Amino acid sequence: MSQNNIRIAVMVSGGGTNLQALIDAQKTGTLHSGTIALVLSDKKDAYALTRAKDAGIPAAVVAKADYGSQARICALLEEYRIGLIVLAGFLRILSADFTSRFDHRIINIHPSLIPAFCGAGFYGLHVHEAALRRGVRITGATVHYVNEITDGGEIILQKAVRVAPNDTPQTLQKRVMRLAEWKI
Ligand code: GAR
Repeated sequence: MSQNNIRIAVMVSGGGTNLQALIDAQKTGTLHSGTIALVLSDKKDAYALTRAKDAGIPAAVVAKADYGSQARICALLEEYRIGLIVLAGFLRILSADFTSRFDHRIINIHPSLIPAFCGAGFYGLHVHEAALRRGVRITGATVHYVNEITDGGEIILQKAVRVAPNDTPQTLQKRVMRLAEWKI
């Protein structure tokens, strides 16, 4: 299979604005690296599932109970012939067994400049709360490969974003999404 035809699974847990950025990039022809073939959510009420449905992309919910062996996820990835997994706001930690099985075939978007504000407990709004508490002037987003160390895999891309003096975690999260995450 050529690089351009890689079938991509996007794994989500929530609102899915990063998924939407990928769907939009696919629609406008700026997603050159493959085709979104499947969306997997660990939450049955994730709005990301509606985004997948609206875009006509097959979607499945993988319940918490299935994470032990991750057998159901693997079966779905095989069924849809997935070559690359994109974690786009997927807030569950994958087992070392799973990440080694898909070595260099899982990438994640994280809302900070790794190695700042990353690792266990740093997800979603908590990342921006921590950045504001620390008083950093610059934050951003990172796309990286996923290995057995949480947010510890090789960095692929980063984009910096300025913190404004009056930022709240919510305003900072929105700016990091708009200026960095949805682009990289
Ligand atoms: C995004 O900011 C993403 O970077 C973050 O969760 C948010 C999900 O938003 N992911 C992490 O914190 C992973 N450690 P979305 O559902 O609208 O894409």
